[in-house]
Amino acid sequence: MSAMNYWLEHHDRPLIIGHRGASAHAPENTLAAFLLAWTQGADGVELDVTRCATGEVVVIHDDTVDRTTNGTGRVSAMSLAELRGLDAGDGQRIPTLDEVIAETAGAPRPFLLNIEVKDAPALRGDLEAAVVTVVRRHGCEERVLFSSFNPLSVRRLAQLAPDVPRGILYHHAMPIYLREVWMAPLMPHEFRHPDIGAITPEFVAKLKAQGKRVNTWTVNEPADIARAAESGVHGIIGDSPCTIREVLGI
Ligand code: G3P
Ligand code: MG
Repeated sequence: MSAMNYWLEHHDRPLIIGHRGASAHAPENTLAAFLLAWTQGADGVELDVTRCATGEVVVIHDDTVDRTTNGTGRVSAMSLAELRGLDAGDGQRIPTLDEVIAETAGAPRPFLLNIEVKDAPALRGDLEAAVVTVVRRHGCEERVLFSSFNPLSVRRLAQLAPDVPRGILYHHAMPIYLREVWMAPLMPHEFRHPDIGAITPEFVAKLKAQGKRVNTWTVNEPADIARAAESGVHGIIGDSPCTIREVLGI
């Protein structure tokens, strides 16, 4: 682990992380949504990455462009030029990871990035290596946290970038071997990323006793934001950073 990573620092309040940016108020996973999250007072954003046919790492949640753009088709079958021709909402384009890192550099306080590597099979196309290459090129390791639902992706990221912290994502309705991370010794990680449905003070305390920090998602309802904060989570990932701020009273 690197000497310093902002995600690992102690904070007096939960970190406020915009889910796909401020996706309640701008098109998800676009530069507009990321910059709006910052304007709303977020500490950073969560974003989803995958690879397109020409190999670039692009920021989009689904396997296809159908839901979030005016086009149709599989991201993995489309070139970057084709993807760039689409409207991702309000005239926004699908960004590359490269662009997001560049556009969020040089902020007065570190603009935290939780890069969620989408659960494409870890050994196909080596998305993980492509993501690490981009992060290394920018030298932005200290403000990055990787996460994935795919344990193999987390393992691969640990091998490729042991200096960048990792979080294991899961939902409380997933099979017990995934939500209790039975394979944890094979995939070193510092964070657990359970959904808000799992969050109680006891649950968070249990994970903390195991040496894990907890970031929870997708937390939008004020009562859930308050419960997450009272439970002692490290970070709250939600669609509306301004709502999180309001509930936390900051
Ligand atoms: O990283 C938290 C959350 O984004 C995981 O689910 O489907 O919104 O990527 P999803
Ligand atoms: Mg995500």
